[in-house]
Amino acid sequence: MKIIKTVREMQQLSDELRKTKKITLVPTMGYLHEGHLALVRRATELGHVVVVSIFVNPIQFGPQEDLAKYPRDFDRDAALLEKEKTDIIFYPDADEMYPGAFSTYVEVKKLEDHLCGKSRVGHFVGVATVVAKLFNIVKPHFAVFGQKDYQQLIIIEKMVNDLNMDIEIIGHPTIREQDGLAMSSRNTYLSPEERDKALLISRSLKKVEELFREGERNTATLKKEVEDLLHQKEGINIEYVNLCDTDTLEELGTIRNKAVLAIACRIGKTRLIDNTILTEA
Ligand code: PAF
Repeated sequence: MKIIKTVREMQQLSDELRKTKKITLVPTMGYLHEGHLALVRRATELGHVVVVSIFVNPIQFGPQEDLAKYPRDFDRDAALLEKEKTDIIFYPDADEMYPGAFSTYVEVKKLEDHLCGKSRVGHFVGVATVVAKLFNIVKPHFAVFGQKDYQQLIIIEKMVNDLNMDIEIIGHPTIREQDGLAMSSRNTYLSPEERDKALLISRSLKKVEELFREGERNTATLKKEVEDLLHQKEGINIEYVNLCDTDTLEELGTIRNKAVLAIACRIGKTRLIDNTILTEA
C-alpha cells in the first residue's frame, strides 16, 4: 500500500496507472469505521486500483463547527486500509490542498438550498470544491460515496453531470450498527444516554417506511409521526424532518412514487443525520 502526500506525485502515479488500469476513488475524512470500510469493499469489488483519500477538509466546516475536534487517527486508518488491501492512500495536508493563493470554488446551486444546506451555509461549496479537486488529482474512473449523506451524494452527481466530468458515481447504502444507528464518525461524541436517544432516529425512519408500505402518502402525517417519536425523549433537538423529491430535494406535500425522508437533529452537542428512500415496490 502506497501513501502519497503530494498532489504532484498522486497525479503522476494516476497518469501512469491510467495507461493500463482503471481507478476507483473513495473520498473520506478519515477516522474510518465500518461504514467507510463498506465503501472501500464496494470499490475493491469493482476490481480496479483503489485509492482512498483521507483529508479533513477545512473549507466544509463552518466557523461554529467541529474542525479542530474532528477525530483523527491516521495510523489506525492506514492499518484498517492495509487489511482491506487498499492500493493507495492519498493523504495531503491542508497547505498542499489549499496553498495561500487558492480562490476557486465550485457551487452546485439550488440543491444546496435544502436540508443541511440551510443551516450549514457554505458547507456544500466546500464539499463540491474538495471533491472536484480530488477528482482532478486522483483522476478516477469511479468514485464511491455513502447514501447516508444523501444531499452530498446528489450534489456530487449533479456536479459531475453539469461539468461533464468523466467519472461514474456509485452510491452505497447506509451501514448501520446492529441496533439501527447509522454509522458516523460523530457517533464517538455521544455519551451512552445520548446514544440511546439517537436510536429514535432510525426507529422513526422504520416507522415511516412501514406507514408508507401501508399506503400513507401525506407528508404532513408522516412528518408528524417522526416528530412525535423523536419527542418521546427529552434532549433531541430537531433541525429538520423533510420529505423531499429524490432529485431536486424540493419538499413534497403528497408522495407520488418516490421520496427521501431526511432527518437532522442535535443530541447534546452532536449533530446527527439519517435518511431513507421511500419507493413504491
Ligand atoms: O463525506 C465526507 O466524508 C466528506 O464530505 C468528503 C466527501 C470526503 C469530502 O470532504
